[in-house]
Amino acid sequence: MLRSSFESQKIVNRMGNAARSWASRKPNESMRLIVTTFVGVVFGFLIGVSFPTLSLTKLNLPSSLLPTLDLSYNEDHRSGLSTQAVLNALNLKNDKSSARNGSLNDTSKVWYLSLYDVQNSFSWGWIETYKLLALSPLLYMVWHAQQEDGRHMKEIWVPTNPRGAERLPPKIVAAESDFYLHRLWGNPNEDLTSKPKYLVTFTVGYNQKNNIDAAVKKFSENFTIVLFHYDGRTTEWDEFEWSKRAIHVSVRKQTKWWYAKRFLHPDIVAAYDYIFIWDEDLGVEHFNAEEYIKLVRKHGLEISQPGLEPNKGLTWQMTKRRGDSEVHKVTEEKPGWCSDPHLPPCAGFVEIMAPVFSRDAWRCVWYMIQNDLVHGWGLDFALRKCVEPAHEKIGVVDSQWIVHQSVPSLGNQGETQNGKAPWQGVRERCRKEWTMFQSRMTIAENTYFKALGIDPNNSTAH
Ligand SMILES: *[C@@H]1O[C@H](CO)[C@@H](O)[C@H](O)[C@H]1NC(C)=O
Ligand SMILES: *[C@@H]1O[C@H](CO)[C@@H](O)[C@H](O)[C@H]1NC(C)=O
Ligand SMILES: *[C@@H]1O[C@H](CO)[C@@H](O)[C@H](O)[C@H]1NC(C)=O
Ligand SMILES: *[C@@H]1O[C@H](CO)[C@@H](O)[C@H](O)[C@H]1NC(C)=O
Ligand SMILES: *[C@@H]1O[C@H](CO)[C@@H](O)[C@H](O)[C@H]1NC(C)=O
Repeated sequence: MLRSSFESQKIVNRMGNAARSWASRKPNESMRLIVTTFVGVVFGFLIGVSFPTLSLTKLNLPSSLLPTLDLSYNEDHRSGLSTQAVLNALNLKNDKSSARNGSLNDTSKVWYLSLYDVQNSFSWGWIETYKLLALSPLLYMVWHAQQEDGRHMKEIWVPTNPRGAERLPPKIVAAESDFYLHRLWGNPNEDLTSKPKYLVTFTVGYNQKNNIDAAVKKFSENFTIVLFHYDGRTTEWDEFEWSKRAIHVSVRKQTKWWYAKRFLHPDIVAAYDYIFIWDEDLGVEHFNAEEYIKLVRKHGLEISQPGLEPNKGLTWQMTKRRGDSEVHKVTEEKPGWCSDPHLPPCAGFVEIMAPVFSRDAWRCVWYMIQNDLVHGWGLDFALRKCVEPAHEKIGVVDSQWIVHQSVPSLGNQGETQNGKAPWQGVRERCRKEWTMFQSRMTIAENTYFKALGIDPNNSTAH
């Protein structure tokens, strides 16, 4: 009946496996098995009697008969009762061409049963009937095992999905978000009357409310407004009409870069073309955000800031406003300050008080912000690492400019330590962070280049 004793031994082994798993089944399942076996036997008998000359090459078992007999087959999933192995051993072939794709298409579940020499299309006789009778329980087991296989096969695994979401079908994955406000009723598609393309965040204390009110009014309805409150006072802001549509995030005594790292993940703010991450003490009388964006687009600035006034008392030449230009990207510093005219602080440089990032630049900068270095000092010198060429894509907008008022607001939120004023402790921390950031960056770059077998001193020079 079977090709060789070796093959029959294999079958016996498999039946042994099947029997073991049978024995461990729950009683009602065994009952089902018995009933199904009986039905299978009767079915086989009827087939054998009714179609004594049926060529099984053309016997299509409809999918309703083998409902979950999925054609696709996961090779290493199940080592015990292997459907394919059993079918092979029985010389029952399936249509592999449609199987390979793992299609769950029901209409493709067409099985061709062939016993030994299909090509010869021998006639169906009693031998074959007995064979089918004998195999009915095995067929049931195959079916049952397939049912479990099927459950696994319908599992989804998409490696290109975001990390952790591999089990989801890609079309349901919402990888990015925004700060758009939705209403609680109606059709979700009709919630948004507008989708602002720009985002502006201010890190604020209530004492600066008038300044912030003036600043917010310079940003049109095309901006989403986010306030990070470091003093815990949020409801008071509702005296301003715009406050009711703003996003308020209240966490006490944290810095702008702390909030930015926590709440402005690039995937969260992916809806916005430009992101303003601003301090609270900026005078905006001569600033218009829409005009600013136009200039930034025109000059291809990925990272920018408005020019600063007054000119005296500012540390860097680069960020000083120039009266005679729209935008500038390079400057001259004091002798010896710039090792290269294309490097900070002569080019590729803006300060951290009022930066504006394009979506792409922010995606890079966010990753560079360190969770524990909350003041962001040193970040300004490293921004250039996020755009290429930095001396062309980083610049200062002169014709839309702001006034740096230098209100030491958050600085006063520090604590007196060792007899020093709170702001002194904060300032020391800022300097310390700067050093730490620089050394982390150097170590990171050296590690990278060394791994590539490149002399770090030579490569980081540029
Ligand atoms: C598998 O599906 C692809 C398209 O999805 C098709 O081009 C290919 O011919 C299919 N292969 C088989 C063996 O059916
Ligand atoms: C299933 O197969 C039928 C006929 O071959 C075809 O028309 C249909 O598009 C298929 N469906 C899927 C989901 O592949
Ligand atoms: C807001 O954006 C739209 C589309 O870009 C523009 O037409 C409109 O003038 C902008 N609003 C303001 C106040 O500039
Ligand atoms: C790179 O420069 C530093 C100091 O600038 C030096 O200590 C180090 O030995 C140099 N490394 C190599 C590989 O030249
Ligand atoms: C730096 O690299 C250049 C060429 O890649 C090489 O000629 C030069 O000797 C290197 N300098 C050092 C200090 O390794």
